[in-house]
Amino acid sequence: MSGGAHILSIEQFHRDDIETLFITADRMEPYAQRRKMTRVLEGAILGNMFFEASTRTRISFGSAFNLLGGEVRESVGTESSSLVKGESLADTARVLSGYSDIICMRHPLEGSVAEFASASRVPVINGGDGSNEHPSQALLDLYTIQKEIMARGRTIDGLRIAMIGDLRYGRTVHSLCKLLCLYERVRVVLVSPRELAMPEQYVEALQTAGHHVTITEELESSISSVDIVYSTRIQEERFQDRQQADLYRGRFRLNQAIYTRHCEPNTVIMHPLPRDSRAEANELDRDLDQNPNLAIFRQTDNGLIVRMALFALILDVAGIFENYAQDVRWYNPRIG
Ligand code: NCD
Repeated sequence: MSGGAHILSIEQFHRDDIETLFITADRMEPYAQRRKMTRVLEGAILGNMFFEASTRTRISFGSAFNLLGGEVRESVGTESSSLVKGESLADTARVLSGYSDIICMRHPLEGSVAEFASASRVPVINGGDGSNEHPSQALLDLYTIQKEIMARGRTIDGLRIAMIGDLRYGRTVHSLCKLLCLYERVRVVLVSPRELAMPEQYVEALQTAGHHVTITEELESSISSVDIVYSTRIQEERFQDRQQADLYRGRFRLNQAIYTRHCEPNTVIMHPLPRDSRAEANELDRDLDQNPNLAIFRQTDNGLIVRMALFALILDVAGIFENYAQDVRWYNPRIG
């Protein structure tokens, strides 16, 4: 990954890029935890363009940029942008790239962020393009996986992971499958209703990488010998109507009783969030919140530092941000 690059797909990453990113992310931790601050991006502007619903991705990209000393300008939803007036993505990109030093964008159409990036004069990060990809999520997921399983004496090479839920429309699992192709001897169990199965291209990519792939509709046997259970939400916004999504909602529920009965004692539970906590779905029950292996909020914390690292590498300040370190002056509950 070179300075100035767009981040559009996991396909552009090599294994050494991931190592560099994760080492940089580790160095960001004291800044994310407000034990130190840095103003290395003072004067820089992030254009945060979210044309589809988002909480974590939008706020963590914005916060990550702020934590490096930069400013954030946002546009949220198509209704409030000129896209509703018929403006092309290319024109929007020409305009916004005059106002920003880097742009993060989420859009409901597959390929839209790449189209936007091709007309942008500044680097563009894909914050999710339809059901295609969500590269920064896969990077924070893999960073989390590495941290969690290293603590259990294991490595990503040889990882055993079950991906559960809407594997057809879930862009986070699409990007994660591509990312796992950079590693060796991974065993992947894909658990979904047949209609929401992982698209063939991702299964093929995993197999071409030499990984062992199992496809099933059965939850309990699938989670019995894995390091990671990665649950996902039914992507109801990609269905023709809500009733169609209702057919699948709640099909694969994980709660503490199921975990205790079927999982190995140290299995890590992950989810890109939001988890659908409505009674008819409840894919990850709240009774798991006391389980120390539930890593969902460590994932969101890691999202901040991985996104800080992405900005630092793309804007070429990864070698110098510590030179701009300052003490934090305000009360910090993280350090008491
Ligand atoms: C995911 C997304 O938007 O693809 N959310 C996220 O960015 N953490 C997953 C989802 O919405 O289900």
